[in-house]
Amino acid sequence: MCGIFGIITLKPRAIGRDLVAGGKRLSYRGYDSVGCAVISDGKIDLRKDTGKVDEVSKKLNFSEMHGDRGVMQLRWATFGAPSKTNSQPHLDCNGDMVGAHNGNIVNTPQLREQFIREGHKVRSTNDGEICIHAVEKYYDKGYSMVESIRKAYEDLRGDYAFIIFNNKEKKLYAVKKGSGLLIGVGRNEMYCSSDLPSLLPLTKKIIFIKDGEIASLSPKEAKLFRITDGKEIEAKVVKYGENQEYAKKGGYEHFMLKEINEQPVVAEDLVELLDDSKYVDKFLDVVKESNKVFLVGCGSSYHACLLGSYYFGNIAKKTVIPAVAPQFISQYGHTIDDKTCIVLVSQSGETKDVINAMEYAKGKTGRILGVMNVIGSTLMNSSKVYLPLAAGYEVSVPATKTFLNQCVMFLYLAKRMRGESCEDMKKVPSLIKETINSVDDACRKVAAYLERWKELYSLGYGSTYSIAKEAALKIKEITYSHCEGMYSSEFKHGPLSAVRRGYPVLFISSPKDVDVMVSHINEVTCRGGRAIAVAEKSDSIVRNANELVQLPHSGNYISPILATIPAQLIAYYMSIGREINPDFPRNLSKTITVD
Ligand code: AGP
Repeated sequence: MCGIFGIITLKPRAIGRDLVAGGKRLSYRGYDSVGCAVISDGKIDLRKDTGKVDEVSKKLNFSEMHGDRGVMQLRWATFGAPSKTNSQPHLDCNGDMVGAHNGNIVNTPQLREQFIREGHKVRSTNDGEICIHAVEKYYDKGYSMVESIRKAYEDLRGDYAFIIFNNKEKKLYAVKKGSGLLIGVGRNEMYCSSDLPSLLPLTKKIIFIKDGEIASLSPKEAKLFRITDGKEIEAKVVKYGENQEYAKKGGYEHFMLKEINEQPVVAEDLVELLDDSKYVDKFLDVVKESNKVFLVGCGSSYHACLLGSYYFGNIAKKTVIPAVAPQFISQYGHTIDDKTCIVLVSQSGETKDVINAMEYAKGKTGRILGVMNVIGSTLMNSSKVYLPLAAGYEVSVPATKTFLNQCVMFLYLAKRMRGESCEDMKKVPSLIKETINSVDDACRKVAAYLERWKELYSLGYGSTYSIAKEAALKIKEITYSHCEGMYSSEFKHGPLSAVRRGYPVLFISSPKDVDVMVSHINEVTCRGGRAIAVAEKSDSIVRNANELVQLPHSGNYISPILATIPAQLIAYYMSIGREINPDFPRNLSKTITVD
């Protein structure tokens, strides 16, 4: 959460334009407020306000901002309410230094009081401002910028990255501790950003900064310093080959709808990639040779872990434990040894709860594998073997195509591990396409019915438990209604009491579990509830459910993947029916880089 984007150029120019463009590519990281600061003729021009990047940059005319160095920040609020004062970037006491951060400074309250006592002019309650005063404090005592950042690093607790510069030196400084930060090397220009995709339209030459390193950037040179001893270290430039496309809605009303419709293509790309990849066997060798295997993720990625665990158990006959990342250490930490394999599952590769699990596991086992979408992300770089999701840039906050590709990935891996042919995976993309086309009307109808209800349940059984949870998350995330996803057989153990006339319950079933699902449907319909089934057509489902969103015929293992699509579309149509922008639901961020 929060995104930072910095530029330093040889000659002053209208860098505001590039900062806005860079900021837009980070817009999934925060949309509570936006700010831009540039230095021109030794003077800092700082503009900021609450709102999204498009609105604020237009209102404050960021594009006309002129200078030779600058930073833009997009905020997802943690410390301090979303307000103009708490917006970033922030100035030091005299307005000679400016900077912005991403992440959390957990000792903000203490440091804020301390700085006020020491006579600093602290204007906000935001932790980004604390970073600036922490550096200023030492700079004013005569330390260099690099030394001041090193000293500030000792005072600042938490995980963060920040960019900072002053009106005297033609330099941009940045530091990384636990949050994403990369450098892009341009022609007579340097860039610095929270993520890789935002840099790729400008340059393919990338420097990956590690935690505990400081970057000192001038237009022609990037230097890295190690925080522990202040020594300069090699700033290795990596040529990044992939021509990553970035956000455009491509004729769709929302990114979410565009990304749902991209699913056939990204699934096809993934299957092809896996067919050709030498890393699949390397990945599976580690899984096979491990005594215990955990799939660790959060949110949608965790739901994919649930389905992954089902596939590995049923197809590959390997017990694989799904674990929600923040619970992983407390529940399973003591069981990890050097024969334990941890598979980190994350779209962004920057989710802090997953990073915590990785850091913990790293000290106990070398068997750390990764399944991520964002190339060059922290988790990808920390994995011994990783498999990319190949889903392209996902802008919309709700995960759609990345979740689906996680499910496709796990089905493929389980089959390969079992020694089965993956030939039938080639039909998955066209089945996804067929599903998107065939369920649309039914999903609109279901959404129209559900719109009237403030709460509902989404039930699954066996393989579809994961999809029921995912459907519930999508509905909660973008419709602001409560929806609980659970095992259909658990419903009678308490929640059944919610059912009354017309009360909606979604039943997501694979062909294999239709009989048991029909019993659970009847528990609801005999009490006046409305059973909406998402399943392949069968006589018993048609006879017992009130409505059917019909999936194409695909079989037990592919069916849960296809069921994801109605889940996404129902949530999407409910969301727009309520005039909510599903791409940027309130209070949420695409990448959660705090505990
Ligand atoms: C899903 O729609 C959410 N936006 C969210 O639950 C997300 O899946 C979660 O924050 C994990 O993110 P990651 O996959 O980038 O680690």
